[in-house]
Formats: sequence, structure tokens, C-alpha cells
Amino acid sequence: MSGDCIDKHNVQGDIWPGLSKKYEDFHFFRILNVERFKSHLSSFIPHITDCEKAMQDKGLIRQHKIAVAQGTESPKLLDVVGVNISFTSKGLALLGKRDIQSKAFEIGQLADMTDTANGGRDKATDWMDEFKNKEIHGLINIGGSSKDIVEKKWKDIQALFVGRFKFTTSIEEVVALSGKDRDAPNGSKEHFGYEDGISQPKIQGLDRPEEGEKAPPLIPPGIFFLGHRGQPICQPDWAHEGSFLAIRKLQCMVPEFDKYLEDEASKHNLTSEQLAARFMGRWRSGAPIDMAPDQDNPALAHSNNFDFDPADTQSRCPFAAHIRKSRPRADIEDRFTRSIFRRGITYGPDVTEQEKKDHKTTVDRGIFFMAYSSDIDNGFSFMQKKMINNSQWPEREPATGPEGAGLDPFCGQAVPPGPPKFCMVDGDKKTVHVSLDNWVVARGGEYLFVPPIKFLKTLSKST
Ligand code: HEM
Repeated sequence: MSGDCIDKHNVQGDIWPGLSKKYEDFHFFRILNVERFKSHLSSFIPHITDCEKAMQDKGLIRQHKIAVAQGTESPKLLDVVGVNISFTSKGLALLGKRDIQSKAFEIGQLADMTDTANGGRDKATDWMDEFKNKEIHGLINIGGSSKDIVEKKWKDIQALFVGRFKFTTSIEEVVALSGKDRDAPNGSKEHFGYEDGISQPKIQGLDRPEEGEKAPPLIPPGIFFLGHRGQPICQPDWAHEGSFLAIRKLQCMVPEFDKYLEDEASKHNLTSEQLAARFMGRWRSGAPIDMAPDQDNPALAHSNNFDFDPADTQSRCPFAAHIRKSRPRADIEDRFTRSIFRRGITYGPDVTEQEKKDHKTTVDRGIFFMAYSSDIDNGFSFMQKKMINNSQWPEREPATGPEGAGLDPFCGQAVPPGPPKFCMVDGDKKTVHVSLDNWVVARGGEYLFVPPIKFLKTLSKST
């Protein structure tokens, strides 16, 4: 195990600090010829955005924003594009690597998320055919400041994997997905209308501690980068500084959600915004309800200075609110193991006037959810199956009564026939369990390993 310093030319940049992206295309591919693929890798590797480059890009954007605020530059979109590559367990096996220790990674996301005996509640029938019935070996994700720049990059990359002639092609695209931030002024919000991209784990040796005495503590780097301090499971040397990625296409039923709020809130002596805030644990502005329980305070929109303490009550924030279920803070002793870097992006257009009128989704929209960590089994998979989908987690009787805390209203999946239930303190200070609908549908996804760049270089020389 090495110290806290990661090699910024070895780690791929979407893991940390994240690619700068308003647009992102996901190209899931199949390897057609292993030897040719390895040899094509050598010309692809210089296109990979490492940590160092991703940091530089973020620095340029930050400087530009400061200059705009100071009036020394006029606002413009800086041309930025970043590329990462990752592999499924089948892809790694083809490349000769079968020694990664992870059951979830080995069996893949479909098997893991439909494993009903262990809390997996995805319905295979909801999944896109490509993720169900086609073999996927890897993913090339390209994020950037404009659609054009992202598409141009893919053209360049495709040419590298074709080689000199069409018949020398080494990969084939299985499915391509396109994500994009919502249009202004909602660019930083996801489709349900909540401010996103606020809270991310901060890392020892890389980040400064967050402001405020209740803010989450710094997390050991091994929770995200293999081979570093705090890594929960021993993994092979070649994987040093890699990370796992869980990517999911999550469709969001926004008009149905808004209609529910409109119909149900007053039954609990709440406004629809108060009910929406209880579901998320933050107001749509981003302000945490642990700090602003009764009414929104946009001045707190990006605050992380809260910890749900005292943990035996939900008088301010419901135990099952999305941000409390998925990052419980003072609710659990181990504040590190379940941490993930979220790097997702929205997809699809905003709700149309017709959809608003009919309260019915007819256009596909949602999130390409992306979670990085050094351990899928104890990270994303555990969170989804054992926390988010578990109505008895966290166990908080007597505060909740025997029915338990209930499900996360956004990504909690009920045991059929449902309906999902959510426990909260209502506008009359009474503890109630309300019935929810399914506003988020999992349409497919993959578990991938994002290898260190040194491994890719060795691989490319091994032809
Ligand atoms: C369509 C589905 C989802 C939506 C709309 C959604 C939305 C949000 C929003 C608005 C936030 C608060 C903003 C922020 O802190 O950056 C958030 C935070 C978070 N979400 Fe989700 N999310 C979804 C799916 C998931 C899933 C599947 C997981 C994990 C299995 C997850 C884990 C988290 C975590 C860990 C946080 C940060 C909590 C914190 O640090 O306080 N989310 N999400």
C-alpha cells in the first residue's frame, strides 16, 4: 500500500476530479479482435484524460469564471473535452485479467440488481435490450463543453480503432447513449428540479476539509483508488490506482412526480415544496432540511455543514430522505466504506407543455447515474440493495414504528406488489407512512473497471 499521494498521470480523470462536461457520450463496445485492440490502444492512450489534465481543465474554467465576475473577461464557453475508458469483467477476461476480487463485478449489474433474494429489485423487463442480451466488453465515455466537440472526439477515436482498413477494426459499438446538462437556467438541476452536484466525498491528501464543524470528514483515498490507504479488499498489483464504475440509465417520471406532490401534500398539512424537500433531504434550491427544516433558505443552497445528529430522530429530516438514505452521516459509525463519487449527467429534454397538462411522461428523460469507488460490493451494490431498497434501514424504532423508515422516494424499489412507503413527520408533527409511486425506472447499466493508465500502456506493448 502506498501513501496518500496518487499518481495524477496514472489515474483516469473522471474518477477524480471528474471530467468537465455539459455533454457526455457513452460508447459501450465489444472487442472484435484482442491482439488488434491491444495494438490500437497505443494510439488511443494519449487521448485519455488523466487526473492532471482534468484538474487543469477545471482550473481554466474556474479562472475564467473569476475573470468574468471581475469584469476582465466576457463570458464564453471554453472548449474542453475529456476521454476515459473502462472494462466489464468479460472485457477484462478477454484481455487476460480474471483476478479482480468482486462478486458483483464478476456477475455483472443485471444479475446483481435482479438478485431479489439479496435486495436487488430491478425488473429485467424494464431493461434495454442492449444491456440484457448483448455482450459488452467496455465503455469509452467522452465528456465536453459542447455536442460538437464530443462528437468530433469520438470520430477521431473511432478512426484509431479501425486501423488502416475497415477489416482491421478492433471494436464494435454495442450501444451509444448521449447525456447533456439541462438547458439554462436549469443547467445545474436534475429533471425533478433539485439542485445537483453539491455534495461529494472529500479525500485525505487531495482535498481541503469542508467548511463547518458538522461537515463530513475527509475520507481515506483507498475508498476510491485501489492500492491506497483504506482500500477494503486486496486486489491485484496491475489494478493499482484503478477504480470501479457503476453506470445506470435511470428514467425519471417527472410529470407524475409533480402531480403526486400537488395531490398529496395538503393531505399532510404541507405545501408541495415542503413534501418535495422531505423526499430529497434538500429543498429544490439545494438547502439541506437538516439546517432549514420548515422553509427554504437559498443562502444555504450549497451547504454541507450538517450531520443528522441526533440520529434517533427524523423531526428535521426523514431517515429515508434520498440524501440521508444514501449518505447517512451520523446515522452510522463507519462514515467511509459506503462512499461514492457521483459523476452522472442528465439526459433527455425538459418536460413538455403537453406532458405537464396530461401529467404523463411521453418523452424519455432521466439521469445516467455514475458511481466510482474501490469496492462495488460494499459501495454502490450495498447502498442500492441493503440501504435504499430496505424499508427497515436505518432501524429507528420507536421513532418510525414497526413499519420502519421506508424507502428512498427516488431510487428505492419496493418488494412487489408494493407500493413503496416513506416515513416522515408531517405538517402536524405526526409520524406518518405515505404511499409512493415509482418515479425512477432502471433501464439498464453495467459494472466496469476503470484501469490505471500504466496498465493500459503495458497491455498495448504486449502484442
Ligand atoms: C434518478 C435518480 C436520482 C436522482 C434524481 C438523484 C438526485 C440527487 C440529488 C438532487 C442529490 C443532492 C445534490 C447533491 O448532494 O449533490 C443527490 C445526492 C446524492 N445521491 Fe442521488 N439521485 C439519484 C440516484 C441516486 C442513486 C441510485 C444513488 C446511489 C445508489 C444516489 C446517491 C446519492 C448520494 C450518495 C448523494 C450525496 C448525499 C450527500 O452527500 O449528502 N443517488 N442525488
